Amino acid sequence: MAKIELTASEQPCELKVAVAPAGGQPLVVDFRRVTKTFDAGTPREFTAIREVTFAVENIPNIGEFIGVLGPSGCGKSTMLRLIAGLAPQFPATSGTVLVHGEPVVEPGPDRGFVFQDYANFPHRTVLDNVAFGLECQQVPENDRRERAREWLAKVGLDPKKDANKYPHQLSGGMHQRVAIARTLIMHPRIILMDEPFGALDPTTRQRMQDLLVALWRELEATVFFITHDVPEAVYLGDRVFIFSPSPGTIVHQLAVAPPDRPAREMQAEPAFLASVRQVRSLLEQLEDAKPNTSS
Ligand SMILES: Nc1ncnc2c1ncn2[C@@H]1O[C@H](COP(=O)(O)OP(=O)(O)OP(=O)(O)O)[C@@H](O)[C@H]1O
Ligand SMILES: [Mg+2]
Repeated sequence: MAKIELTASEQPCELKVAVAPAGGQPLVVDFRRVTKTFDAGTPREFTAIREVTFAVENIPNIGEFIGVLGPSGCGKSTMLRLIAGLAPQFPATSGTVLVHGEPVVEPGPDRGFVFQDYANFPHRTVLDNVAFGLECQQVPENDRRERAREWLAKVGLDPKKDANKYPHQLSGGMHQRVAIARTLIMHPRIILMDEPFGALDPTTRQRMQDLLVALWRELEATVFFITHDVPEAVYLGDRVFIFSPSPGTIVHQLAVAPPDRPAREMQAEPAFLASVRQVRSLLEQLEDAKPNTSS
């Protein structure tokens, strides 16, 4: 089996692309030369991602955290939605998308999605938003409400005061706490997060980063986390994917130090700041290179 060296060095280090294992556990996610062309065969034909290849190994009791960076429109959300099985990005035009060794055919509870916008149901209370997935699985009301209250506490909300609020009564940070609880209550093995903290102020954002790290450790899930914030990707990630401009492909896979100290502390350290500078410089080089506009 090709081994990924996840060295927690002070500087990010470039990784070679892993290949599918010859035997043993199937890969958690396996992208092989995945291309997505929208409106193929029409004048509007547009290739969003081209030949994207990567692998996430199945390491027992450890979920990998992958930060995803790249210029706007390079296909980051397209990649995430292909893993989730969400149209119209799904299905891919060519290539193979495998999750735990099986081709993705539709969305499933094994893959939870947290969106950038506050995607809570406006006419449901906080508690009923969090319990939504369990309700779909016909978990009895008392049981699902009790589990939802536990999750409210886990994400730092007050199970008594906040449970009966409606989404319009919440701050941005509270919204995302509800969205995270609603996703994680289902114990997905893969958590897909598309710029979930993009609209939060810097202090709330760092608090949410700490919360996410704590929950991720507990769940041992694989996380894909899209962000435009370089420190956020470098802090949260075990690995950082950097996409080229459109049509996007992964041009760098970097191993970075894991988040083993609180965000505020670690993000002020010289080694961390050096990693951020390196990643920024790689992104700037990509932005400076003339984008390939052909599709
Ligand atoms: N349904 C669609 N039909 C046609 N083109 C689409 C569709 N969805 C996305 N695209 C195009 O595919 C490209 C990649 O989109 P995607 O949303 O994946 O980018 P992104 O990297 O997530 O960008 P951002 O950082 O701005 O969120 C964009 O140029 C977008 O306009
Ligand atoms: Mg996007």
